[in-house]
Amino acid sequence: MANDEETLGSLKKQLAKLFEASLRVTVPTETDVEPLVAACTGNFGDYQCNNAMSLWPRIKGKGTEFRGPPAVGQALMKNIPQSEMIEKCSVAGPGFVNVVISKNWIAKSIQKMLTHGIGEWAPRLSIQRAVVDFSSPNIAKEMHVGHLRSTIIGDTLARMLEFSNVEVLRRNHVGDWGTQFGMLIEFLFEKFPNWEHASETAIGDLQAFYKASKQRFDEDPVFKERAQKAVVKLQGGEPKYRKAWTQICDISRSEFAKVYQRLGVTIEEKGESFYNPYIPGVLEKLSNLGLIEESQGARVIFLEGFNIPLIVVKSDGGYNYASTDLAAIWYRLNEEKAEWIIYVTDVGQSQHFEMVFKAAKRAGWLPADNNSYPRANHVGFGLVLGEDGKRFRTRNTEVVRLVDLLDEAKTRSKAALIERGKDKEWTEDELEQTAEAVGYGAVKYADLKNNRLTNYTFNFDQMLNDKGNTAVYLLYAHARICSIIRKSGKDMEELKKTAEISLDHPDERVLGLHLLQFAENVEEACTNLLPNVLCEYLYNLSENFTKFYSNCPVIGKPEEASRLLLCEATAVVMRQCFHLLGIVPVYKI
Ligand code: ARG
Repeated sequence: MANDEETLGSLKKQLAKLFEASLRVTVPTETDVEPLVAACTGNFGDYQCNNAMSLWPRIKGKGTEFRGPPAVGQALMKNIPQSEMIEKCSVAGPGFVNVVISKNWIAKSIQKMLTHGIGEWAPRLSIQRAVVDFSSPNIAKEMHVGHLRSTIIGDTLARMLEFSNVEVLRRNHVGDWGTQFGMLIEFLFEKFPNWEHASETAIGDLQAFYKASKQRFDEDPVFKERAQKAVVKLQGGEPKYRKAWTQICDISRSEFAKVYQRLGVTIEEKGESFYNPYIPGVLEKLSNLGLIEESQGARVIFLEGFNIPLIVVKSDGGYNYASTDLAAIWYRLNEEKAEWIIYVTDVGQSQHFEMVFKAAKRAGWLPADNNSYPRANHVGFGLVLGEDGKRFRTRNTEVVRLVDLLDEAKTRSKAALIERGKDKEWTEDELEQTAEAVGYGAVKYADLKNNRLTNYTFNFDQMLNDKGNTAVYLLYAHARICSIIRKSGKDMEELKKTAEISLDHPDERVLGLHLLQFAENVEEACTNLLPNVLCEYLYNLSENFTKFYSNCPVIGKPEEASRLLLCEATAVVMRQCFHLLGIVPVYKI
């Protein structure tokens, strides 16, 4: 088993271990130097170790025997422990150590992946439990494309952590509390005297309901006063008001659920109201630590590096978004024992989270160092833009109903399948399922493939294109691999046991090496919270496969068995990537 531990998982990490051993021998005095190993695409090698250049200034003048960085590089190369994984090494330029990975070792490792399962290639994190706070729309308000981005990105991050054997608390921090509820409740009483029995359909569109009640609130001072009193009654726990609140929340919730159901996202709601009872105690702790001050009638926390304070109690005595988030971070760290808390919202909220994290650090709930656990990260993302370069909107309405948006993706992908005659080849179920997988997959992938910090332009034609870097292209590529395997008529389980992979053609080797690099790419995507890293990996995998398949015929050739195993490994890795991206694979096209 110990041996397998060493030969499974991240190739980059395994190489780093070898270089670490070499570093300890080459420069025994520099005990804190970590190996710097990176994948490279050049003629000299597959990986490169870059330590020589930065080591040099540290050791020169300290009686070193070396005459410059290239000599350090030479020594680093010479001192690498003997290993099966390395075919050859060379030193280039100012001291880069280039490594060519042994193709037999690559072949053997892929074979092992096929027999042990891809789970062995999951990142190894040092934590047990994480909270991913994502989606988090607001009751009675619009669930907009920003919430869609948060849902898609958050789900992927949760999936990557789950794959890494971390227990993930998927949290929907819905905005279900606040002064607007007084207005909504009073409006409900007024419009639907029979409200306890009024169904969702009677109330209809909650957004319109919100708008109308806001108008009433702004125009009629008597109503306004009633609404303000209603907030107090609600917060005081008066049953009638709690009941009305619950009813309003339930209507919103069923709308949110439709989006999650389509996207295949599971999430557990702990809305703002959940943390409400914890706020006084948490503020008292902060106050006892001397963090809270009075300022212009409000209670605030001044934080170094920010020109505005974090308001934790408003001048009217009420709590706000920040008080709730302070209670939530305390709860997650102390009650839920989360070691990593990840918040997924648009970049507009960065400052809010930076301030909350800073306050938590000052309180000693989080360590001062950003990289040690427990830790909190804000995962920000850019805007969704329309074709006009402005904030995304559908043609005639101000707001985009997410359910309609997703349904349109499905309708379009179904139409494309019908155009290819699939309605005649497939059952109705197959057609529906494929249309969903492709349509929803396209929306997700279009979002995930960009660096999340950049704005992205929502465009159905682009995301549903079957060429280029789209989910459609990738799903079709996967289906094609499955069809090659089916056509061969071979039993893959049998083949895994009896056949051997060899990587003699250069395109086989490129594909093989890329397959092995799955582990380090998921690890990077997961630890840096960047799903686009995984998308890029997947796209390149598909490109490498295409190249392999056009130059290396499979069926009926002497290399058939080995090449089928490569096809199988590619399909396995692609499916794992799809899974992590929340995309349902298709097997037929
Ligand atoms: N409801 C907020 C919004 O729509 C997002 C909440 C994010 N999570 C949090 N813990 N503040 O903008």
